[in-house]
Amino acid sequence: FLLLESVMQEEQLKRMEQVSRFSNELCFHRCLLEFTVYLLFWSMLMAMDPNVSELCVYDLSIAMVPAQGVAADLSHLNKKCSVKGYAFDKDDRAINVAGECLTGCHLVLIPAGVPRKPGQDRKDLLKINAGIAGNVVEACAKFCPEAVVALIVNPVNSVGHLMCELWKKKGLKASKIVGITTLDIVRANKFVHELTGAAMDDISVPVIGGHAGTTILPLFSQCKTARSIPAAQIPGLDKRVQDAGTVVVAAKNGKGSATLSMAYAGARLGKAVLAGLAGEASVECAYVASDGVLPYFSSQVSFGKDGVEKVHDIGELNTYEKIRLAELTPVLLDEINAGLEYARDND
Ligand code: LMR
Repeated sequence: FLLLESVMQEEQLKRMEQVSRFSNELCFHRCLLEFTVYLLFWSMLMAMDPNVSELCVYDLSIAMVPAQGVAADLSHLNKKCSVKGYAFDKDDRAINVAGECLTGCHLVLIPAGVPRKPGQDRKDLLKINAGIAGNVVEACAKFCPEAVVALIVNPVNSVGHLMCELWKKKGLKASKIVGITTLDIVRANKFVHELTGAAMDDISVPVIGGHAGTTILPLFSQCKTARSIPAAQIPGLDKRVQDAGTVVVAAKNGKGSATLSMAYAGARLGKAVLAGLAGEASVECAYVASDGVLPYFSSQVSFGKDGVEKVHDIGELNTYEKIRLAELTPVLLDEINAGLEYARDND
């Protein structure tokens, strides 16, 4: 079972209007449109995964395309999964509809929250998005406590750890909460392909750390193809991966952030988790609870029947990567702590 969700409750929408620059109806609808696009593509990619037997699409009833319509449309793909749509009214408490939708889910994919605007940093979204993610994660804890819950909610660096703490407080397993950083891997691979011309299948760059600016650390030295790139070009390539999200935000000119590539990357992660749940070998980088560099850290993860089965060691780093790791560690720690502070202030 799988669910995609982009909940924004009324109270949070009001807060969102105050805190961010969402000052009028038009912006509000633009934001919903962004999420609808996201939901459509991600849902479609998941519907095509042979490990999905039932796909549940969950969204606000005022979304540009109603969830039931998305479900009816997707249900005609000649794929084995059945598709159901759930929409909730702004007057409903999302939790009522969520119960029916979430019960029995094995994987919940959450692309909730608002996107940043040009000039904003991902961490500027913490106040708005942590509350939204928290409501959904609470609902998952109640209705599908055995599910793997994977979130791409910015700032991932703060929200991932925060949601894991919330989950653990309910007595549930940390191995079920996954922060999605797959887009960084997708971007690193693509940029290496552009530089080297090598076949995509021969490129696999692990990206460790977090999902924002300098906390994103692509390990080009661990990719055989990328090792052929002259050392002088690595800092520029590294920076290109770090800044890729910001480039998309600027190009969309205030009308959203990455959605299509994010849906693609999110589906890749979803596929990896489902493969693990199905007992197939499955390794992907993800932002998860870790005993390594920091309590929450992105590195290669093996997924299994219980979600995160093994967090791999970060492996051998070259001098450039060691310096970058030393620099990013306090930055990521600050962002992890910002999430915990938010939780304390809002308890
Ligand atoms: C991305 O990396 O594209 C996303 O995190 C969205 C953003 O705000 O950059």
